[in-house]
Amino acid sequence: MRLVSAPTAASALSLALLSSAQTITGQYDCLPAGDFTLCQNLWGELSGVGNQSSTLISTTGDAVSWSTTWNWANNANNVKSYANVLSNTAKGVQLSNIASAPTSWSWTYETQSDGIRADVSYDIWFGKAPSGVAATSASSYEIMIWLSGQGGIQPVGSVTKSNITVAGFQWDLWSGPNANWEVFSFKTASGDITDFNVDLQEFFTYLTENEGVASTQYVQAIQTGTEPFTGNAVLMTSSYSVAINSL
Ligand SMILES: *[C@@H]1O[C@H](CO)[C@@H](O)[C@H](O)[C@H]1NC(C)=O
Ligand SMILES: *[C@@H]1O[C@H](CO)[C@@H](O)[C@H](O)[C@H]1NC(C)=O
Repeated sequence: MRLVSAPTAASALSLALLSSAQTITGQYDCLPAGDFTLCQNLWGELSGVGNQSSTLISTTGDAVSWSTTWNWANNANNVKSYANVLSNTAKGVQLSNIASAPTSWSWTYETQSDGIRADVSYDIWFGKAPSGVAATSASSYEIMIWLSGQGGIQPVGSVTKSNITVAGFQWDLWSGPNANWEVFSFKTASGDITDFNVDLQEFFTYLTENEGVASTQYVQAIQTGTEPFTGNAVLMTSSYSVAINSL
């Protein structure tokens, strides 16, 4: 296991976490992680054979470092999990009341088998009420931002816009319905983006200006993680943070 060096401004809590990285293995195990909650969320594990574990490495101020190690076979078109960190602070703000939503995500595959099928993605949930659990009857929209999509996997729906520029990167926009909500997925059109430092507000504005999303919608949840289908890999997030600043 790789540990990052102790930051000078680390709180006592994060130092405590640094001294003993914690690993979760169960299907729905979660762990407090500073401003975040780290969850295994192996919701699709029954469609495959394999395993996954997730490790909290450190929390530093508003950032988190974590990794997930996965190994999945069978049903190449089925997602096995969405191991992720959920922000406990960046939520509950109406789109019309957002000044900025800065995020920074540095990640890498420490190891990966040939031909992995997996995405590395944000999963952001909008709804009519200030709060609501992701992927429930409270959800109106699911916004995915795929920084990586390897092995020919596809987001929900179909491509509705090709090679659009948002926040300085090129994307193919996929959209379609899922359960009781609508999905918009910005899939990188220029390969893996391993150092992502943007204002998520640019994606939100794109959706309100071009895709009919009402600015009365609230950001209910921002999750960040990976959806593996098949193969094996160690995905390392060296640093991730997100915030929403209100007007
Ligand atoms: C994880 O799953 C793979 C593939 O089935 C298997 O080879 C490996 O032994 C498993 N590892 C653990 C820790 O269970
Ligand atoms: C995508 O858009 C970028 C920026 O506008 C452009 O440089 C690039 O050539 C485009 N790629 C394709 C495949 O159209």
